[in-house]
Order: sequence, then structure tokens, then C-alpha cells
Amino acid sequence: MTWTPSPMPSATPSSSSPRIVLGVSGGIAAYKAVELLRLLRDEGFFVSPVLTPDATRFVGTVTFSALASEPARTSLYGDPTTPIPHTYLGQHADVIVVAPATAHLIARYAAGLADDLLTATLLASRAPVLLCPAMHTEMWEQPSVQENLATLRRRGVLVLEPDVGALAGGDVGPGRMREPQEIADLVKRLAHGFEGPLTGRRILITAGGTREAIDPVRVISNRSSGRQGYALAEVARRLGATVTLVSTVNLALALDVVRDVDVVKVQSASEMHDEVLSRLSDVDVVIMAAAVADFTLRASKVKLKKEQGPPELRFEATADIVSDLVAKKSARQVIVGFAAETTNVEQNALGKLRAKGVDLLVVNDVSAPGVGFEHGTNEVVILDRDEHAYPVTLRSKEAISYEILARVASLLTQGDS
Ligand code: C5P
Repeated sequence: MTWTPSPMPSATPSSSSPRIVLGVSGGIAAYKAVELLRLLRDEGFFVSPVLTPDATRFVGTVTFSALASEPARTSLYGDPTTPIPHTYLGQHADVIVVAPATAHLIARYAAGLADDLLTATLLASRAPVLLCPAMHTEMWEQPSVQENLATLRRRGVLVLEPDVGALAGGDVGPGRMREPQEIADLVKRLAHGFEGPLTGRRILITAGGTREAIDPVRVISNRSSGRQGYALAEVARRLGATVTLVSTVNLALALDVVRDVDVVKVQSASEMHDEVLSRLSDVDVVIMAAAVADFTLRASKVKLKKEQGPPELRFEATADIVSDLVAKKSARQVIVGFAAETTNVEQNALGKLRAKGVDLLVVNDVSAPGVGFEHGTNEVVILDRDEHAYPVTLRSKEAISYEILARVASLLTQGDS
């Protein structure tokens, strides 16, 4: 069966619905793009599929054409509707989503190549681009792939990181394309603006380990990478919040919408304290994901000399930011604390919840495998003021963020009524 294109379908758009170019490159996850297409159509989007030649080895164009708003395209040449399909598609797109994005597609896009219709369309567009990579773990972890993605991110491309899960051939690991529903939700937000349960809410999030100076050269710090705080900022923005991130680290390239986030750079616990407290009256929520030093020291103004032998360092307690926030907050404001524990996790966490008076405490056992500092994944228990415990099993820090922010959203709604 051959598809007979309807006359000039894309050159004469009749509807005002957002136009989405759905790019599909040649990986096994291409079959999931069919489901994504259906979800995007259900949202009322005008969807134009563009398949690379390799994608058609996995899924036929007829399937895409049957579900899409216009016939699927695979080539720069021979389009019955327009002699220049790439500029037409690129200029009229409201969002371009590539799912799956293979290592090859990512490399060609990063290099500025335009050797097929999909890459040419990507170059011929100013629309937001969302890449949904899918590939084997070894490929995903290649420095070349990661560097290409970093290049694209720097240019403003959004990357929806793959999940850990079953891959082709029975392997399991990072590289599995995100589920179509999740991709469709993000496309929806890109097309309509970031709308969600946190729309209209202002959230301040802290991230990273603080650095306490010993002298002008040396610092005492901790192993917090800042990734959980950045993931929270990213997801809060996706859910519609206006986000301020007070951070000791700069992970901007590892995130997507974070360029939409106001980032305040700090170093020490005392700087973080002042920046956070001075903003309390402007926000609805503070999430203290940072690992704040409990002790600081009076820094020497000059570098301590090795020849003088091991220095004697005198520590003094830092101000507890969370406690100061809780003391000053209004009844409607929500304060979330984190507790990184290694022993007696449950008991310590309950003690901390009571002592700090936070609305939510996110507890993680940082001694467990894959949990907490320096990992991409986390496993937490969320405790609320009534001491109800909501365990969240091991998953990406982004997925953990959705769980935390869902609880925050529900507390804010309760506060409204
Ligand atoms: O008491 P502990 O340091 O374990 O509590 C951790 C929580 O308290 C985290 O949310 C952390 O950001 C916050 N904290 C703080 N000020 C400090 C130390 C920790 O707000 N000086």
C-alpha cells in the first residue's frame, strides 16, 4: 500500500494548534515514537513526523502517516507538497522533539550537519528542540556522546536523559528512552509554556556542599554534588514554579530548563544563610537540599605555610539555616529539609523532623548503594509533620524530585484552603 498525500497539507495549515515536528532516528526505541505520536495527536497538536532513513528500518512510514496530521517524511527531496520541506518544517514548528535520538543523530546535530531531512530541519529552525536519547549503556557513556550533548545543551537544546532499564538484546542499564507519556508531557509544557501544579508558586532551592575557608587557598567541604538540588530546580520549573537556586556549584550544563532559573552563587554556610534568609519573604517554598557545613572556622588571611607544621583549626558552629527559616516563616510557607544519615536512620530522622520543625523532611541513608552524594540516583523517605513516612525507592534524582514536589504542591494547596 502506498500513501497518497493530501494536497498541500502542510503548506496551508488550517488549524492554529501548535505544530510539532516529531523526529525519529534509527534505534529500536523508534517503535515507542508511534505511541508518542498518538499521545501528541490526542493533545490536539498538529504533528509532522520526520524519519531518518535508518528509522524506517525499525518502523514503517505508513504507521506514522496513518496516525499523524500529515504524511510522514523521510527525504529532503521529492516532497509533493514543497520543494524545501526542511525550511518549511523548521520555520513553522513550535517544538521539535527527536525520539529516539541516536548517538549518530546527536553527533550530526552537534556538528551542524544537514545530510538528511531531520538534521536539515533541526538546523532550519529556531523552535525549542527536545532530544530523547536512546542507546546502549556503552554508547551513552562514551565521552564523545556526552560531549556532543553538552555542546547542544550549551546551545539551548533540551535533553531528556534516558532511564535505567531494559535495553535491546536483554541488557539492562542507563540508555532506555523515557516513556512516551513523560515525553508528551514535556512537549506539552514546551508548546504551552511551563504550566503545572506549581504554576504561580515561587520556590527557593539550595544545592551543593558549602565551602568553609581555612585560608585563601584551602577549604573544608563535603561530598555533596548538588545534583539533587539541580534536579529539584529543573523539575520545579517544569511543573510551573518560578525558581531561585542558591548553589555552591555550577551544573548548568547538566540541566535543561535551568537557564530559566535564577541562580545565586555562594560559597560558605554563612553566605548561603544570608542569601536564603533575605529571600524568604519573596517565596512560597524553601527546599534546603544543600549540604551545609555544621562548623566553620576563622579563615587565615594568608596562606598557612607547610613549614609551620600542621595547623590547629578551631571550629565554631554555623547558624542553622532551616531553623532560622522555620522561626521566621508564615503559616502558608513550606520549608523542606534534607537529612543525610548513615546510622540509626529512622530514629535520627524523626528526631531531626521534631527538632527542626520543617513541613517535610527528605531522609536518605547515604551509606546505601546508589544513594545520595555523587550519585545520579537516590532513594529517600519523605516524612511529613504528622510523621507519616512516604518511602520512594531507588530512582533518578529527577524522579525523586517529582515525588518531593508533588508533596510540596499538595501542602501548598492545603494552605490555600
Ligand atoms: O542537622 P543536619 O545538618 O543533618 O540537617 C540537614 C538539613 O539542615 C539540610 O536540609 C540542610 O540543608 C540543613 N542545614 C541548614 N543549616 C545548617 C546545616 C544544615 O539549614 N547549618
